[in-house]
Amino acid sequence: MTKFKRTTVTSALPYANGPVHIGHLAGVYVPADIYVRYLRLRGEDVIFIGGSDEHGVPITIKAKKEGLTPQDIVDRYHNIIKKSFEEFGISFDIYSRTSSKTHHDTASDFFRKLDAKGEFIKQKSEQYFDQVANQFLADRYITGKCPHCGNENAYGDQCEACGTSLNSTDLINPKSTLSGSTPIMRETEHWYLPLDKHETWLREWILDNHKEWKTNVYGQCKSWLDMGLQPRAVSRDLDWGIPVPADNAEGKVLYVWFDAPIGYISNTKELLPDSWEKWWKDPESRLVHFIGKDNIVFHCIVFPAMLKAEGSYILPDNVPANEFLNLEGDKISTSRNWAVWLHEYLLDFPDKQDVLRYVLTANAPETKDNDFTWNDFQTRNNSELVAIYGNFVNRTLVLTQKYFDSKVPECGELSDYDKEVLERISSIKNQVSKQLDEFHFRDALREAMNLARTGNKYLADTEPWKLAKTDMTRVGTILNVSLQLAANLSIAFEPFLPFSSRKLRGMLGI
Ligand code: MF3
Ligand code: ZN
Repeated sequence: MTKFKRTTVTSALPYANGPVHIGHLAGVYVPADIYVRYLRLRGEDVIFIGGSDEHGVPITIKAKKEGLTPQDIVDRYHNIIKKSFEEFGISFDIYSRTSSKTHHDTASDFFRKLDAKGEFIKQKSEQYFDQVANQFLADRYITGKCPHCGNENAYGDQCEACGTSLNSTDLINPKSTLSGSTPIMRETEHWYLPLDKHETWLREWILDNHKEWKTNVYGQCKSWLDMGLQPRAVSRDLDWGIPVPADNAEGKVLYVWFDAPIGYISNTKELLPDSWEKWWKDPESRLVHFIGKDNIVFHCIVFPAMLKAEGSYILPDNVPANEFLNLEGDKISTSRNWAVWLHEYLLDFPDKQDVLRYVLTANAPETKDNDFTWNDFQTRNNSELVAIYGNFVNRTLVLTQKYFDSKVPECGELSDYDKEVLERISSIKNQVSKQLDEFHFRDALREAMNLARTGNKYLADTEPWKLAKTDMTRVGTILNVSLQLAANLSIAFEPFLPFSSRKLRGMLGI
């Protein structure tokens, strides 16, 4: 960590075609926020970049369905999403959007530079065309049967049943979702990033030099690289997006996965118009992308290839992607409305953001898909947050009020046990730090909770309420030690439970 001067932390830009749910929070935004808050506590130089991803076909589909423009849709959801993140304490330094002018300019310039350097190839291909709607069909506008698992409703870019990414030409019995007709093939020309030319350095950079990446991330990269990389189109025939800044590009926009990651750069520019470059170009800056597992290939292979092709950027140092969170045993799905939406959670549990942050971290899908259940939510709230953390803080404060009129009592002579308990503070601090440095958020949280456990055991063992009749000096020492624990708990939990920490600091007057 010391070899870097500063850290640029990004979290995936969510599509502004719906509100955010607990899966987003658990997979990406809570871990990113924990990490950033942790770095800030350590006094590191860090920026936390977020924003909405406002291009792409799902947004145009949604707009069409509702009889609105894509801009109407992204305006609506950008605001809802931004508010949810604020309400849950996701402490972005900036939360902007890819429909901004800064972003359009930045992404266009990026494309132009690569184009001028000869980093693209142009290729003609046959694409599905809907003769009734008179337009080329994005993969998402085509459904059909998945050749891998037989799901009848696979999309042209991905089968959501088996997770395979597809080309629309892979689908059996393709149908246009615009008109329901069977599309025909028609020739079109696009710009491609020749990933095959980047394969050698990508292999070395990831497979040899980043063995420390999480095994789910490393494994996915390895399997992509082992399959061999193909040129990938960076433009589309579509009327929503950033127009391709080149000749003969009528009706063509940048592919959403080309412009969106550049959004991290645009948003940094918007945050720091004069000093953004050092966060992206200085080799002493460290770039970390928080994402979900469906974004791995874009952040570990495609975007790095774009950055390398441009030539002046650093590459990500780590991409701690999470797996998925299910809800009560079933895949979270926006279209089936099977989700706990963040804005709805707050209607049922106002001011209980930390409870959700806690449960989603304790049960984070760090290494495999995990399940969120309300039963687990209740248990963890009652038997961990309340029974351990809350109980210790409550007893400490109530006893201090009762015996010392809410003043911090003096610390008398320390027993061996007192010393041992105080030493736990720094050993747990080291443990929490070590786990967070390695992106082990669940383990880090468990360590922090162990400090509260230590406190509860300490009170149970020393029984200050019994000593109050005979030895007030000793009671004062015990409560002094307990208050030190409580103060340190407010720090240890700050990255995880920022609202409670703040409240606790207020109660303690620190
Ligand atoms: N919108 C994408 C998704 O939700 C993530 C985009 S991340 C970025 O899957 F890098 F492109 F910004
Ligand atoms: Zn399938």
